[in-house]
Amino acid sequence: MIKDKIVEVLNNIKNHMSEKRYLHTLGVVDAAVYLADKYGENIEEAKLAALLHDYAKDFTEEELKNYIHRNGIDVDEILIVAYQLLHGRVGAHIAKNRFHINNQDILNAIDNHTTGSRNMSNLEKIIYLADFIEVGRDYPGVDDLRIVAEESLDKAVLQALNNTIKYVLSIDKLLHPNTIYARNELMMKREKGE
Ligand SMILES: [Fe+2]
Ligand SMILES: [Fe+2]
Repeated sequence: MIKDKIVEVLNNIKNHMSEKRYLHTLGVVDAAVYLADKYGENIEEAKLAALLHDYAKDFTEEELKNYIHRNGIDVDEILIVAYQLLHGRVGAHIAKNRFHINNQDILNAIDNHTTGSRNMSNLEKIIYLADFIEVGRDYPGVDDLRIVAEESLDKAVLQALNNTIKYVLSIDKLLHPNTIYARNELMMKREKGE
């Protein structure tokens, strides 16, 4: 059943995103499948979450905000100001309502890929990380992150969160608290040797 859903979504997304976004999405699918296999998570779920993670990324600010209001989606004020982050929340809503995906882990992975969150599941971590290391990505530190991703999922997600926090500070933008919660939680785990 999940295989049919993957085919349905794959056929749909090409017409709903730019060529650039589509290629990025396929890169995230490959990276997510690789990580799911490596870290013993469900490959089909990883594929489906990766396919849909950026479904709403090409929405304009107006489209994102209209979608939120029209559907009565509850969001905090930081998400309203740093509206680019909303594409995760909107993508998860579309996954549930347009594609009838009810697997909460998949929905959370789509929702939280823009910020990270507390208590991330392995699937959430995989999608978060795959987004940063897919083959089309090229930025300072990406090769190092790819190496750490081979070693430890938690270590790599922590490094990706740190990279994001440094980047957001360097461009003087709002930092979502969930990114800090996610980072501190993984730091605590590391400190405790878990
Ligand atoms: Fe995204
Ligand atoms: Fe992405």
